[in-house]
Amino acid sequence: MITIHTNENNPSTLKLVIAAAYTKKEVQLNIINLNEKNIKPPGHLPYFEVDDEIIFSANAGVQYFLSVDKQHEIKVKEWLEWESTVLSPYLGIVIGNSSKVKQLKDKLISCLKKLNSNLENLQYLTNNSTPSACDICIWSVIHPLANNENLNKEFLIEVPALLKWFKNLESQPYIAESLKKYPVSAGQAAYQILFNSAKYIAEVTASDVNDESITSEELEAAEKAWKNNIPVLKDQKNTVTPVLPKANEKNILITSALPYVNNVPHLGNIIGCVLSADVFARFSRLCNHNVLYICGTDEYGTATETKALEEGISCQAICDKYFKIHNAIYEWFNISFDHFGRTSTPEQTELCQDIFLELNGNGFMFTDSVEQLHCEKCNRFLADRFVEGGCPNVGCTYEDARGDQCDGCGKLVNAIELKNPRCKVCGDTPKIKTSTQFFMDLPKLEPLLLHWFKMSSPGWSSNAQTIGRAWLKEGLKPRCITRDLKWGIPVPLDGFRDKVFYVWFDAPIGYMSITKRYTEHWQKWWKPEADCPVTLYNFMAKDNVPFHSIMFPATLLGCNRGYVTVSHLMATEYLNYEDGKFSKSRGVGVFGTDAQNTKIPSDVWRFYLLYLRPESQDSNFNWTDLATKNNSNY
Ligand code: 2FM
Ligand code: ZN
Repeated sequence: MITIHTNENNPSTLKLVIAAAYTKKEVQLNIINLNEKNIKPPGHLPYFEVDDEIIFSANAGVQYFLSVDKQHEIKVKEWLEWESTVLSPYLGIVIGNSSKVKQLKDKLISCLKKLNSNLENLQYLTNNSTPSACDICIWSVIHPLANNENLNKEFLIEVPALLKWFKNLESQPYIAESLKKYPVSAGQAAYQILFNSAKYIAEVTASDVNDESITSEELEAAEKAWKNNIPVLKDQKNTVTPVLPKANEKNILITSALPYVNNVPHLGNIIGCVLSADVFARFSRLCNHNVLYICGTDEYGTATETKALEEGISCQAICDKYFKIHNAIYEWFNISFDHFGRTSTPEQTELCQDIFLELNGNGFMFTDSVEQLHCEKCNRFLADRFVEGGCPNVGCTYEDARGDQCDGCGKLVNAIELKNPRCKVCGDTPKIKTSTQFFMDLPKLEPLLLHWFKMSSPGWSSNAQTIGRAWLKEGLKPRCITRDLKWGIPVPLDGFRDKVFYVWFDAPIGYMSITKRYTEHWQKWWKPEADCPVTLYNFMAKDNVPFHSIMFPATLLGCNRGYVTVSHLMATEYLNYEDGKFSKSRGVGVFGTDAQNTKIPSDVWRFYLLYLRPESQDSNFNWTDLATKNNSNY
């Protein structure tokens, strides 16, 4: 059975219904009312389901019904592409969005004239005998225009051949039957729907009337700068592994934030970290620099413990399972890591403990007592996400507030203030217990850090500079770096051996330990010798900036061992999904494995994600836009 999932009044759906009626195929319509509450908007409407396959391009769906004869294939495809990338975006923006920009209106009229002149010599768009997929697709998007008196007068003047073709098709029984089955109204409303799915395309089409658009001079200047930066594109050196820094060469060390191992990465994670860093790594290699690109999974902490509980397997088993998934996804995306490692290794334990001891020895650590909820039955302290109870905020009566936040009132919660707290694992009532933890003395490190920040931050992306500066302006406070958890790196001091390091203390050390797994000469990268300096680039999304701009540099500076610190902290804003947020828990978004399952080649995904890269503001993933950008000349 073929099912078309759609909203109402959508000209793209009409194409499919007509194509089915024309070829006498049964289709079922699943009308989704997006205004109803609790409707999770599917990726893109309409989409088309047949034999367990999903087709999200309406024009591809029409071609599923109508096979094209070889003789006319190229012309039919050309018209189909033109309809989706030119005609419909103009219809959407000029009529659906009531754009008053004269230039755009003229462009729409010239599209209609183009159709007209083609139909002066032919009965249908590509031949004289039968309508093809392109006739059906174009007819469907012109129908709301041709059947509205005002629009007709405004746009369909001087196009008699087009009108004749329109009327001829309109009188066919399969079209009348289709409109009865799936009515599409005449007038603006249908084009608003077209505009909503094509608004991104339209924005680009409209860029020639947008003051902020890039000028041709700017484009030329960018091209020149790009070419000047690649002096030796021709003779690529053979890269010997392991790649090590060399004297008199540019030695570039690139990291992308280590993704948490407890889930499947989504497109937002991919563009924010690994793909952005990949492009820079490829560029730097093209310039014949010495490049090492390091990444891996971030495996310790409560997120892994929670997932292990959820799946009923050990933390190590979770890490092994999801490490493989991450690795396979990045391989599919062609990410050119020199090494993709993980943090649950002996090298990581050794380095993390060593760095902690050095900081402690240098006087940058102290201990203090902390109040936490403890479950006697489970014999453990409860991290915020392992406890629930009544919201302590005044005026809120929500019973199931989490240990960090209340979903009832949205306010932050201090776990020890929850009313009638419950252990999420066993349901028992936890008690407040005091435990002693290590704190990193950030106030003591502040002068060192301030000086370093002034020297290093000019090369950072501007959002990273802003976030770092805001933290420093606020004044640094001591930070607790140990936890009463099981899954982590043990604190190597008597009296603390049953505690582990907080995941954010150990994670960035992962960059170094993963390099150590790659080469025994890892220190050449991380403690460079004077004649082989190294420049470090960190890529990440903006929520990781505080750790890379303040906490980790403070750790390295406090060691005073000459570790390399970041010169270029490159942070992205967020990528949203169809105007909402990507969310694993709600199943909203496109995850690495979904991208693979679409059968759309990874290069198309790479191109589109880079096109969307949220450089200075959030951007939106949109299925229609993906198809359009790929099919047009970008
Ligand atoms: O936000 C995250 O996914 C973290 N796992 C990033 C860690 S980056 C680095 F410090 F390891
Ligand atoms: Zn418990």
